[in-house]
Amino acid sequence: MWLFGASGMLGGESLRLLESHPQLRLAAAVSREAGAPLRRLHPHVRAAGTTVSPAEAVDGVQAQLERQEAAVALLALPHGESAALVGQLQAQLGEDFDELLVVDLAADFRLQPAGKDPSFAYGLVEWNRERIARARRVAAPGCFATALQLAVLPAARAGILDAGKPWILHAITGSSGSGATPSAITHHPHRHDNLWAYGLQGHRHEAELARALEGLGQRPPIHFLPHSGPFARGIHLTAALPLAQPLTSAEATRVFAAAYAGAPFVEVLEEGVPDLRRVVGGNRAALAASARGGVLTVLCTLDNLLKGGAGQALQCLNLMLGFPEPSGLPEAGLGVC
Ligand SMILES: NC(=O)c1ccc[n+]([C@@H]2O[C@H](COP(=O)([O-])OP(=O)(O)OC[C@H]3O[C@@H](n4cnc5c(N)ncnc54)[C@H](OP(=O)(O)O)[C@@H]3O)[C@@H](O)[C@H]2O)c1
Repeated sequence: MWLFGASGMLGGESLRLLESHPQLRLAAAVSREAGAPLRRLHPHVRAAGTTVSPAEAVDGVQAQLERQEAAVALLALPHGESAALVGQLQAQLGEDFDELLVVDLAADFRLQPAGKDPSFAYGLVEWNRERIARARRVAAPGCFATALQLAVLPAARAGILDAGKPWILHAITGSSGSGATPSAITHHPHRHDNLWAYGLQGHRHEAELARALEGLGQRPPIHFLPHSGPFARGIHLTAALPLAQPLTSAEATRVFAAAYAGAPFVEVLEEGVPDLRRVVGGNRAALAASARGGVLTVLCTLDNLLKGGAGQALQCLNLMLGFPEPSGLPEAGLGVC
């Protein structure tokens, strides 16, 4: 696998996952800083070796495809940079581009209109498994968008929600969601012991949920409000969804359990609430549903770097390569962070 964006937050997490994957091997970690030792960029990984430049990597991909070997590119790049690299790969590889498997973690191809070239399948495995398994290119969902869709789509599909009233979604994310480069608002003294909302005028991940709901024939008013929390990893989502009809908590739980029966990375709790420690460090999302006073409350926690990021990308790659879906993916959370 050619890992682009090696020095980044998801670059480091992808390297870590790859070390315990039974089949996938690193072809090279690709960075704007060529020749950087991986252990300096990410002291937590065991991988020896150094990074290669994007130009060397594109040549390497081309040579691999010319030898008719399978080639895989994981793009852990900022928005815009992914589309630029895909354009470059397309131009240099020509017809061979279609042989390359690509998973992109940025937003560039997530909301692509049908028929666009090159086409990307949407990488939310639990809702698009068959399409991903056939795809050569996948756009992994945003971290918030993963939690939003896992929490809302089962109830929307079951037809138990009132699409005439606002659907309220509040989520808190850890600082690793902002990437590896420090900024004033991700700096420890500002972030530690602090909590604030942002994106009051709308957040781009809302559009991913809106598109999925359109696919189910629903266009409710969605109010998603993200918050920055005082922890490094994890997302905690609270969805307050207006019910179309009276429902018990047990019935609500059954809707979610049925939707995710057989999904190895979604756990629907029969009782209690999901917290971050249950999921952080693992690729599992945890959900709990309850109903009261005409409102369905759905709680969802996941690790933004795993189920919301590098783990989900690897889950997609496993399907694309015909490997067992859980290959190389930690299921258990850390328990204590
Ligand atoms: N962090 C999360 O929780 C999360 C979850 C889901 C999706 N995502 C998305 O996944 C992508 C990667 O996220 P991340 O958190 O790993 O980001 P990051 O820490 O900022 O890493 C991105 C990497 O891209 C490379 N890069 C190439 N061109 C660049 C440029 N012009 N400016 C800055 N960096 C450039 C850099 O690596 P080199 O210097 O080594 O080339 C950089 O370290 C982003 O699109 C992000 O929105 C993030």
